[in-house]
Amino acid sequence: MAIYLNNAATTWPKPEPVARAMYDFLISGGANLARGSAARRDLKTFNLVGDLRERVATLFGGYEGGDPRYVTFTSGVTEALNIVLKGYLRPGMRAVTTSMEHNSVIRPLRRLEAQGMELTILRCDGKGRLDPLVLKRRLEEPADLFVLAGASNLCGAIQDLEAVAEICRERKVPLVVDAAQTAGLLPHDAESLNLAALCFTGHKALQGPQGTGGIVWRPDFAQKCLPLVEGGTGSRSHEEHQPDVLPDKFESGTPNLPGLAGLGAALEWLETEGIDKVRRREESLGERLLEGLKELPGVSLYGSSEMEGRLPVFTLNLKNFDNDALACELARRWGIETRPGIHCAPLAHQTLGSFPQGALRLSPGYFNTEEEIEVCLEALRELASPKTATLRSGR
Ligand SMILES: Cc1ncc(COP(=O)(O)O)c(C=O)c1O
Repeated sequence: MAIYLNNAATTWPKPEPVARAMYDFLISGGANLARGSAARRDLKTFNLVGDLRERVATLFGGYEGGDPRYVTFTSGVTEALNIVLKGYLRPGMRAVTTSMEHNSVIRPLRRLEAQGMELTILRCDGKGRLDPLVLKRRLEEPADLFVLAGASNLCGAIQDLEAVAEICRERKVPLVVDAAQTAGLLPHDAESLNLAALCFTGHKALQGPQGTGGIVWRPDFAQKCLPLVEGGTGSRSHEEHQPDVLPDKFESGTPNLPGLAGLGAALEWLETEGIDKVRRREESLGERLLEGLKELPGVSLYGSSEMEGRLPVFTLNLKNFDNDALACELARRWGIETRPGIHCAPLAHQTLGSFPQGALRLSPGYFNTEEEIEVCLEALRELASPKTATLRSGR
């Protein structure tokens, strides 16, 4: 039996209705979106996507009372961030970000930098947090966009989005949020924070399938972005140019409809279960794990050593263990699934002091049990014992 502690990579297992909705779509739904007639199955698909757009707009505090037109579906947050960053930033502009970002932010920005955009990377503190005063100071020089993740995929540090949003509003700098780790766990209100774009992924705490995600746009910002991909939208087919209207502008090609069916079921599940309940459950598991980790000899924990202001995502190294070998040992002997390495976030590891060796990440999720947390702690305790450590180091 697997003990799955890699929920920051993707949550697992998914709630059952998610799999059922995908199965039903493939077996009895299955019509394409806006590329058929007005047959019942066509309308079913049309409504499935329309209802989900509304659900997403409501969940994230979308603009104009949650107008579903300002929701774009993508294959995940990586595509969403690429659409936003490459759609808006041009040579000569200046983008600002932080040292805790995932490569889905850093790599598109480095590409744009190579093309003549200026890039400023603000260093976060040893707990992975951005001091809003640092941002305030660095936005005294003109900037065209600020992008940051709501919480770190490495140490779970939650950023002070309200303070950041206030500064960006004052300086009139469009704020883009990577909500990969926070969507489904923390409340989001794009309109009240005046976010230019909120980018999310469906397969993490939103509990949906892989290959889903999207953007909630501020309407005027969406107007200023060029689409990354152009092609068939099922609308205005007589026109040779990409439609400028939303959602069609950013949604060319047949979407991942089985995935969207699953995401719809996931959001319905989340609404019934309640985001607060999910968060409290994960926090309580995280609390126990953290407490146990702090008592283990030879553990170096990165980021904050408290549960406050973080999600239950922990990275550590164990004395005398390479984190890769540690992950293999946990999987081989106890069936514990984790993630070692650099987690697509080299600058974040540099910020926390775990570069270049990387670290082992443990990220419990809603479906873990207290017993599983205890098994993990017991396994680490055994591996950390002086006897095992001596064996590992060969000394
Ligand atoms: C903070 C953050 N941003 C972006 C991503 C990329 O997500 P996806 O692979 O779903 O596009 C991740 C995934 O781990 C993440 O944690």
